[in-house]
Amino acid sequence: MNEKRVVFSGIQPSGDFTLGNYLGAVQNWVRDQAEKINYFCIVDLHTLTVPQDPVQLRERTRSLAAILLAAGIDPDKCTLFIQSHVTAHAEASWLLNCITPLGWLYRMTQFKDKSQKQESVLTGLLDYPVLMAGDIILYDAHEVPVGDDQKQHVELARDIAQRFNHLYEQPFFVVPEPFIPKVGARVMGLDNPSNKMSKSFAHIRGHAVGLLDDPKEIMRSFKRAKTDSGNDIIFSDEPEKAGVNNLLGIYRSITQKTKEAVEADFADARGYGDLKVRVGELVIETFAPIKARYESIMADPAELDKLLARGADQARQVAQPKLDQMKEIMGLVLPR
Ligand code: TRP
Repeated sequence: MNEKRVVFSGIQPSGDFTLGNYLGAVQNWVRDQAEKINYFCIVDLHTLTVPQDPVQLRERTRSLAAILLAAGIDPDKCTLFIQSHVTAHAEASWLLNCITPLGWLYRMTQFKDKSQKQESVLTGLLDYPVLMAGDIILYDAHEVPVGDDQKQHVELARDIAQRFNHLYEQPFFVVPEPFIPKVGARVMGLDNPSNKMSKSFAHIRGHAVGLLDDPKEIMRSFKRAKTDSGNDIIFSDEPEKAGVNNLLGIYRSITQKTKEAVEADFADARGYGDLKVRVGELVIETFAPIKARYESIMADPAELDKLLARGADQARQVAQPKLDQMKEIMGLVLPR
């Protein structure tokens, strides 16, 4: 038995990779990757739950893999792979569909939100959390690092794992737990600090900052960031200070300093203008080396493919036997 904890993280290849993705997820993944057994999965099958342009989806999937490597995900320390390369995920989702009550899926708030915004709702959108449950429990993951918005889905994965264990009267799946990072969990939109920075709003100018954006564009977005009419550069829960709080939070998340140390850094700042420029500069500096590594990874597509094939092989070695056992438990005949 492995003593190390198993962690499963998923990220969708939809939209541009933003500062929110970096600080909210990937920076933490990189920091903790050696301590636990980590699976980092680019969940292309999940992205298909809303209509996609095939050419763009393929490009974004490879580009995201390159970004993750450039950001420091180390394929020698963990397993980075594309979900659709490991067919066990899609198969597990079918098997789990057959033990998941429909009512559980209709209750998901993300489904309710997303389905209200669309005229025709695809089956995959409803079924999305079952695929996600399969992602996680095929690896017997203990922990799933997620933002607030995905917590309910991880709880559903727990329910599904428990239901399977109960139905088949054996502790077959590890029951996973959501893991919400403390610092930097939530980067808000620069234009509207009451909304989470999201790639879905990346087309709105000044909302999100993309890792691959031109530094001038990044600085422009920071300079236009929404603040308040005061001039106190301090952390605060006051709703009107949400903008300043967000800027300080970004700075804190990158520097990993305490709140007091961050406030002290800005004690000599000349107003919010200065704050915005300094935070913008820090973000640009942080992105620059990642962007340079990204360019060189993208310049060698064969090497990237090789790394992804290796990651998929590693993942398959865990997921496939688990899937086979699952089939056996459920009464399917395994091919001989
Ligand atoms: N639903 C997650 C999101 O949109 C992505 C995801 C898919 C995921 N499968 C996962 C996250 C498994 C964690 C574990 O953010």
